[in-house]
Amino acid sequence: MDSSETYEVKDLSLAEQGAKNMELAESHMGALLEIKKRFAKEQPLKGIRVGLALHVTKETGILVRTLIAGGADVAITGCNPLSTQDDVAAALAKEGVHVWAYKGETNEDYYRYITNVIEFKPHVTIDDGCDLVSEIHKKHEALIPEIIGGCEETTTGIIRLHAMVRDKALKYPVVAVNDNKTKHLLDNYYGTGQSTLDGIMRASNVLFAGKTVVVAGYGSCGKGVSLKAKGLGANVVVTEVDAFRALQAALDGFRVLPLNEAASEGDIFITVTGNKSVIDLAHMKLMKEGAMLVNSGHFDAEINVAALQKEASSERRIREFMDEYVLGGKKLYVLGQGRLINLAAAEGHPSEVMSTSFCGQALAVEHLVKNKDSFSGGEVIQLPPELDDEIAKLQLKAMGVEFDTLTPEQQEYLASWQEGT
Ligand code: ADE
Repeated sequence: MDSSETYEVKDLSLAEQGAKNMELAESHMGALLEIKKRFAKEQPLKGIRVGLALHVTKETGILVRTLIAGGADVAITGCNPLSTQDDVAAALAKEGVHVWAYKGETNEDYYRYITNVIEFKPHVTIDDGCDLVSEIHKKHEALIPEIIGGCEETTTGIIRLHAMVRDKALKYPVVAVNDNKTKHLLDNYYGTGQSTLDGIMRASNVLFAGKTVVVAGYGSCGKGVSLKAKGLGANVVVTEVDAFRALQAALDGFRVLPLNEAASEGDIFITVTGNKSVIDLAHMKLMKEGAMLVNSGHFDAEINVAALQKEASSERRIREFMDEYVLGGKKLYVLGQGRLINLAAAEGHPSEVMSTSFCGQALAVEHLVKNKDSFSGGEVIQLPPELDDEIAKLQLKAMGVEFDTLTPEQQEYLASWQEGT
């Protein structure tokens, strides 16, 4: 480990590769670069300390640079023990960013690094999963009066924030960046769809065509995973607990089954629910020889790997992200230790996708700072829709796609109620 007062990373000599990877990411992140350019000119974050607990990837590196361009001081740690790209962490450390992260962190280091970010005394927090907000509220309440607000990147974090609001525990406003329509479309749907299969293929090299793939959860992530698996020729079965989503899956042409029934059919199981023990020991006992268990939800709680470990007669690591368990004489394979497979075994969502997500983060930080006197304490707030639309426009521009505008006559028509048949 290489460390100083301002960083702790795996190996500082990886910095050159990290800088190249960030250069590559940047070339696909035109929308975020537009914001970076404006930030550099307008300095909206001057004097603001931003503390992040985000996956430390090449794309996150570009967000960090964007915030710094806007005048912010930044400290960052990871939000999952297996998702850090060590070369990027090294490059950020070399650039002078406060960064504490390495791939394969112990639980102790994970929380020590979060504490480092908290001790940086951020005015704004950026979270992916709500661990930073939760640690501040549990152990560092004295810092809260200085915190303007926070931003949350993922569905799991939003679920936790709403639970905090219900308990009257949340003490500062948090923008639900995850709920931006641009975020749901690009990140949850297209991003998770592609990167989950990328992670599974890199971890196992399995063929999807002809396989039965059971997708647990049909939110935006589950829809994306189902679509991409179908595109590769898999027979997709969806499991759901929400009636509307189950209906949508059925109408989208997927077989919908209770997991108890799907368990004996699946070759590959993918959880994307945000809940815990979705695949439990009872389901595993019903699975067939060779079944693969994969999670792409934020936390490693979705597959009850601990129960499998306890009950299995043997366990061995077949390769880096593939563990074999023998349960009742059958071999089952858990990929990426049940941690989110797209970041554990692959590189997360592609840069174009993260560009739109991180436009949301950058604009949310600016929105919090600009309007800091207008929020009423512990609330989960949405980014104003016009900013969400601005992100769509920036991304379209980055893609070179032009689109139409309403004529004055059409605007008038839409605004009036008199004209009928
Ligand atoms: N979440 C999913 N993919 C990601 C990526 N490439 N960078 C940061 N966070 C992510």
